[in-house]
Amino acid sequence: MLLSQQQLAKFRENGFLVLPDLFSRDEVAILNRAREAVFSQSTEADIIEKKSGEVRTAMGLHLRHEVFDALTRHPRLVEPACQLRGDDLYIQQVKINVKAAFDGEAWQWHYDFATHHADDGVPEPLALNLHVFLEDISEFNGPLYFIRGSHNHGAARAHHDTTTTSYPLWCVDQDVVAGLVEKGGLVSAQGQAGTGLIFGDIMVHGSPPNMSPWDRPIFSLILNPVANRQTTFARPEFKHHTDFTPVAPLDDDCLTRLHEAE
Ligand code: SIN
Ligand code: MN
Repeated sequence: MLLSQQQLAKFRENGFLVLPDLFSRDEVAILNRAREAVFSQSTEADIIEKKSGEVRTAMGLHLRHEVFDALTRHPRLVEPACQLRGDDLYIQQVKINVKAAFDGEAWQWHYDFATHHADDGVPEPLALNLHVFLEDISEFNGPLYFIRGSHNHGAARAHHDTTTTSYPLWCVDQDVVAGLVEKGGLVSAQGQAGTGLIFGDIMVHGSPPNMSPWDRPIFSLILNPVANRQTTFARPEFKHHTDFTPVAPLDDDCLTRLHEAE
């Protein structure tokens, strides 16, 4: 699946792109059954919320369930990514950020490259974050917020925050956030289950806590050009995978076919 010229222009202008109806209801049901299976596992690749003890993010998912392995190689994610960044992309990170009903905590203002660069020695902000909404996401259950156009202002000043949440993160300083918001404004990414979302490595984003009674699970795949691979290896494998083999897209019906084989 390739992005249209209009979609490419929108991505370049805004720094993110929402793809409504990227996955069907049937495919989302298959993904959510697999989500239940991985959430019944308990591994060191699950990061637990600071206050509630709920899972915040379940990582390394392509190694934990065949359905997520297939989703990681799905042509509706991999082909647009290759269109934007070239063919040789490796699987850097595969997770679900669940933002549990009532208890899901915030993701502070950040851009992913700050962490990729400082913690993993990734040279350039070329990685792409590809999301799939696993439930409907509205203004109520903690959608992602983007600062529109923030990708056009270079890598913003950031500090390492190890206390606000259970997930250490390089976060953008508040005065920088204020300046960027003044320029580009805020926008939230909402949509039905099955919606896709793509954004780049220096796009500034975050999300508020979820005080609604609805989970806000998002599947997130980060693909990075092999030529731009990590140069330091301090973080665990589930935070940055070290198999630098270029990802090859599967067939478009890979999820439903897996389900038929069950
Ligand atoms: C979130 O799950 O709200 C944040 C996701 C991200 O930073 O990629
Ligand atoms: Mn992020």
